[in-house]
Amino acid sequence: MKRIVIGITGASGIRYALRIIDVLRKEVDLCVIYTRAANLVMMDEEKIDINVIKERYSEVIFYSEDDFSCKYASGSQDLDAVIVCPCSAATLSSVANGLSSNLLERVCDVALKEGTKLVLVFRETPLNLIHIENMRKIAMAGGVILPACPGFYNNPKTIDDMVDFVVSKALNRVGISNNLLKPWKYENKS
Ligand SMILES: Cc1cc2nc3c(=O)[nH]c(=O)nc-3n(C[C@H](O)[C@H](O)[C@H](O)COP(=O)(O)O)c2cc1C
Repeated sequence: MKRIVIGITGASGIRYALRIIDVLRKEVDLCVIYTRAANLVMMDEEKIDINVIKERYSEVIFYSEDDFSCKYASGSQDLDAVIVCPCSAATLSSVANGLSSNLLERVCDVALKEGTKLVLVFRETPLNLIHIENMRKIAMAGGVILPACPGFYNNPKTIDDMVDFVVSKALNRVGISNNLLKPWKYENKS
């Protein structure tokens, strides 16, 4: 069974994270790390507290950003991938500059040093040069920047369709096949 860490930060788009947890909870050994700001945005966007999510997904292990007892704070553990979704500009900056000042930043730092797949589903717009330079640093260090940027070529009908677009891209990037997004095919050609 794959071992995956999902990091949730205080960027908009908590729904992406909830969908990833829902899709992966029975498929992989899942660990979720959430920041304080993530809980704030969760209450604002989804009207639920992280404790509700913890109860809903009792098979998943949750850590707050202060809880360094998480085994993935160390590089000596087997871990297949880390997906930070949604990823704030603050966490992007901390990871790009190696701060490791909370558990999630540390786990991302470990992923980069150990060559573990790291995908940051970055959510901010417009971008300033600092964001762009931080994204570049992470890409240069081996991480993947995957903007929370749903496409329209699959003709989304609902918000859930748009969420699945981004979630599918993130899962594909860490080698988890899924059928959330049908591959594009020009309609008039076979
Ligand atoms: C409702 C709400 C939405 C936010 N959306 C974003 C966002 O889309 N992108 C972003 O970079 N920060 C966003 N922020 C700001 C972050 O939450 C803030 O910078 C925080 O310090 C991020 O901390 P973290 O990376 O530790 O979670 C938002 C804040 C609130 C309250």
